Amino acid sequence: MKHILVLVSGNGTNLQALIDAERQSGLGNGTIAAVISDKPGAFALERAKNAGIPAFTLLPDKSLPKRERRLELSNRILAKACELKIDFIVCAGFLSILSGDIIAAYASRMINIHPSLLPKFGGQGMYGEKVHRAALDAGERESGCTVHFVDAGADTGQIILQRAIPVLSSDTPETLAERIHVQEHAAIVEAVRNMV
Ligand code: GRF
Repeated sequence: MKHILVLVSGNGTNLQALIDAERQSGLGNGTIAAVISDKPGAFALERAKNAGIPAFTLLPDKSLPKRERRLELSNRILAKACELKIDFIVCAGFLSILSGDIIAAYASRMINIHPSLLPKFGGQGMYGEKVHRAALDAGERESGCTVHFVDAGADTGQIILQRAIPVLSSDTPETLAERIHVQEHAAIVEAVRNMV
């Protein structure tokens, strides 16, 4: 079985979708071997614990400047991934930007999910409600989610799959986020099943 590591920062509904899918009909040739959060107390950690999956919190070192902070955290995640013999990494609502050796070490084996139809509404600072507000402000008629490989940029890696939904004239950032979230759960499971 391939060992999957899921990186999280928040609620972890995408993690939950993967946990449920593994339980119900498997994740291809993979199993969720560990979860790492960069935020203390993230609810995703509870979800991991409830599913009996080893969960770790690796916090960014706030005393370091931004670039060094990213690199240092990325290197600790890489060390943990090596220790746990991780084959595949899923960033599922993980807010830290990864850099350094982990990018090459897991090239084509590390994916991210983003709640827009990339390349639209991606990049640094584009997360959460901001993404959906930007899509509405731009008058988009459809939006959705993208699963892509992680590279050294923010939301710039090669696209693996997308799921689109219509934007309704009555949509608010909240309602759009909610409908896209449902699509994300299907997309992340499909991508992992196809790739591991
Ligand atoms: C999702 O919208 C995901 O696309 C983005 O962060 C959000 C995480 O949601 N990267 P959850 O924590 O999986 O519920």
